[in-house]
Amino acid sequence: MKRAGQGRPDADVPDLQGLRDARLVMVTGKGGTGKSTSASAIARLLASQGRRVCLAELDSQRAALTAVFGHEPTFSPEEVLPNLWVMNITWPESLVAWLRTMIPVGRIVKAILANDTVRQFLDFVPGSREVVGLTVMQELQRRFDVVVVDMPASGHAFSTLDITRSALGLFRGGPVRARVEALRDMLRDDHTRLVVVALPEDMVVNETVETLERFRDAQLLGGRPLVLLNRALPPSLTTPERIVMDRLGALSMGEAAGDLIAAGQWDLEREAATEDAVVRLAEAARVQPVVVSPAPAGADPARTAEHIAAQLGRAMGVGREEVAWT
Ligand SMILES: Nc1ncnc2c1ncn2[C@@H]1O[C@H](COP(=O)(O)OP(=O)(O)OP(=O)(O)O)[C@@H](O)[C@H]1O
Ligand SMILES: [Mg+2]
Repeated sequence: MKRAGQGRPDADVPDLQGLRDARLVMVTGKGGTGKSTSASAIARLLASQGRRVCLAELDSQRAALTAVFGHEPTFSPEEVLPNLWVMNITWPESLVAWLRTMIPVGRIVKAILANDTVRQFLDFVPGSREVVGLTVMQELQRRFDVVVVDMPASGHAFSTLDITRSALGLFRGGPVRARVEALRDMLRDDHTRLVVVALPEDMVVNETVETLERFRDAQLLGGRPLVLLNRALPPSLTTPERIVMDRLGALSMGEAAGDLIAAGQWDLEREAATEDAVVRLAEAARVQPVVVSPAPAGADPARTAEHIAAQLGRAMGVGREEVAWT
């Protein structure tokens, strides 16, 4: 039987050095897996290593980062922790910034935006939001050492990045094509990393495998994706200990002892689910995930992000005190 932590011998080990040196990190995954919290954790971890980090949400109506940093992000990056700025890549502001890069005359940009028909047209051109959002990420790379983006869920994240392919088919020449080519090159850069957050649950693991396949087939990315298996538990008990736990579960005990055994059994189930997930990811996608355990009960969003940062840090050789939130 295959054991968690080993995966298949030919599974690629997590590329943590690639994450440490990245210039653009895009975090995606199925809804509710912990994308925003993990993006915050990665940003904190990289900032703790002396890099100037911009953590950005992509056009969020209700910014998730507010819960983590106690500060609502706007289009202007604000420093919330040493070396760590947060922002929200909101649409109207991004559009203005984009037009300014395309049309150097401010007067003309104003005239364009004052025209309702043009504005509505830009609002609805397929792909315009994506191209504009990606262009903002690219501009941010000039001002920061690394940009970490809390992307939408997998399917939407894929179509956002895949716009670079379809737009190249649409624009055969001209300034827009040149821009889109630059975006494609940014995604294919060696220092660009996709992080997919998963949970040790069949449906989530299946979606993760599909997402990795889609990205691989489309050849959109330069660097190897990293998978975080969140709220997972690597095996802690030996086989005889597991047998004892099973036997205890079958006995009828007092209420307090019963609760303890139920908690132990929950851990055991998580451990088994983690093992299944690790094996499936290795077999179907040839990746070995970074296993991240659940935060202690009652941890608030900042503590949860700190907990994830500490575990990623440990895998990279960074001490827990370096990623402390305050
Ligand atoms: N390792 C963890 N341990 C405990 N709780 C966690 C962990 N990771 C994330 N959470 C909690 O799970 C919830 C969802 O996390 P988060 O908002 O980061 O997910 P998301 O993938 O960004 O969700 P959405 O798809 O809605 O954007 C939050 O309450 C977060 O604090
Ligand atoms: Mg989120």
